[in-house]
Amino acid sequence: MTRAAPALRLRVRSFRFETVPTYWFDNDPWRTRFFDAFSSLLPIGERLFIDSLRRSAASLNDPQLDALVASFAYQEGVHGREHRRYNDRLRALGYDIDGWDRSQKATVGRISKLRDPRIPLAITVAFEHVTAAMGQAILEHDLLATADPEMKAFWSWHSAEEIEHKGAAFEVYQRAGGGPDLRRMVMAWCLFILGIRMGRRFAHMMRKEGKLMDRAAWRAGMRFLLGRQGLLALMGGDLRAFFRRDFHPWAKDAYHLVEQWEARQSAPAAVAAREPAAAVADLS
Ligand SMILES: [Fe+2]
Ligand SMILES: [Fe+2]
Repeated sequence: MTRAAPALRLRVRSFRFETVPTYWFDNDPWRTRFFDAFSSLLPIGERLFIDSLRRSAASLNDPQLDALVASFAYQEGVHGREHRRYNDRLRALGYDIDGWDRSQKATVGRISKLRDPRIPLAITVAFEHVTAAMGQAILEHDLLATADPEMKAFWSWHSAEEIEHKGAAFEVYQRAGGGPDLRRMVMAWCLFILGIRMGRRFAHMMRKEGKLMDRAAWRAGMRFLLGRQGLLALMGGDLRAFFRRDFHPWAKDAYHLVEQWEARQSAPAAVAAREPAAAVADLS
């Protein structure tokens, strides 16, 4: 039986990116820039996720759904803020974060203007599944074991919250009348776009640093991404499951990963005292 979606905790977290080494993942440029390229996409992406859920929930008039969306918005709002701080590091290294943001904003602006709100919602459902599947792989297999401790803590926190709220967008999508065909078609498009945007940014950073032809880095990178125990293999089952007509995010119960992560924290995370909507407004 599919588990009922867990309550979302409004954790207060902030990370020290200032002292993180340049190649923070095992001193390896490939894996470092892979995660950095992903991070560069997240603040604007997560803003789209929040807006698409709010837009659809506003027409459904269900206070329980509004509360779920407010908690989701809080978690994604804090992720967006911390990723902006993370991306400041990349800007300091000379990367054109502002130019990348402008181009992504233009795409997101066109998506937000679509008349059918189920399309941005389906995009959110698709990307939320990717982030949850990635989070599950990271936490279940300790993929960041050799990373800088602060970056490991950062990505583990984001992973845990992506798992915790993995049902939120899907819930709104279903309530808004979204069906499996649109959801699956949109996922195919999202995976394509993610590959192109992330690949371009990754290649740009590696080229600029003279690491694009670094064989040792590519060997480690290919093992990490495409190896038998690599990230894509670990996410493969989850990605395939999304294409089933009867897919539900909580058909795979991964909540134990959130509980185990929470148990490893040296102190329980402080919980936001303010209403989530007010907290998110500060983060825009
Ligand atoms: Fe997030
Ligand atoms: Fe998310």
